[in-house]
Amino acid sequence: MKIMVITGSPHKEGTTNLLVEQFIKGAVEAGHEVFRFDSAFARINTCIGCDRCLTGKNDCVFKDDMFTVFPKVIEADLIAFVTPLYYHSYSAQLKTVIDRFHGIDDLIRGTGKKAVLLAVGANPHTWIMWTDLQQHTIQNCAI
Ligand SMILES: Cc1cc2nc3c(=O)[nH]c(=O)nc-3n(C[C@H](O)[C@H](O)[C@H](O)COP(=O)(O)O)c2cc1C
Repeated sequence: MKIMVITGSPHKEGTTNLLVEQFIKGAVEAGHEVFRFDSAFARINTCIGCDRCLTGKNDCVFKDDMFTVFPKVIEADLIAFVTPLYYHSYSAQLKTVIDRFHGIDDLIRGTGKKAVLLAVGANPHTWIMWTDLQQHTIQNCAI
């Protein structure tokens, strides 16, 4: 399958990177095609809710690195979001990408794509992954 990996850590050699490298290694070994996008090192504007995109009918007003992401998300069978926990949720870098999906909503909704979330955190308690993060993920990443 085609897998789009979107990371949200500003640390090139951090723990998110360790996790994503292992995920990609396993996916490639299993025969999947992987495209990786590191949102923290890209030029991405925050969505301003102008609705010019009409959720996929017009181009977004911002001509930035999301135009690398859009076609990859549209063709992906699975999207893997990989993030450090920032205050019980995913990072702002990753959220900025997810908000911009507004520009292609009509092209990805109901297409049966799958999404997974991989997260790292400093808190040693297991409950840390089961609170806000889980709820955010279900609401925002389910496509
Ligand atoms: C702004 C900020 C908020 C954080 N909030 C949490 C948190 O809520 N829970 C947690 O377990 N770790 C939290 N951490 C720690 C990071 O999730 C953790 O250090 C992670 O491994 C960093 O990933 P990186 O190495 O890719 O930067 C936070 C770190 C930062 C900088």
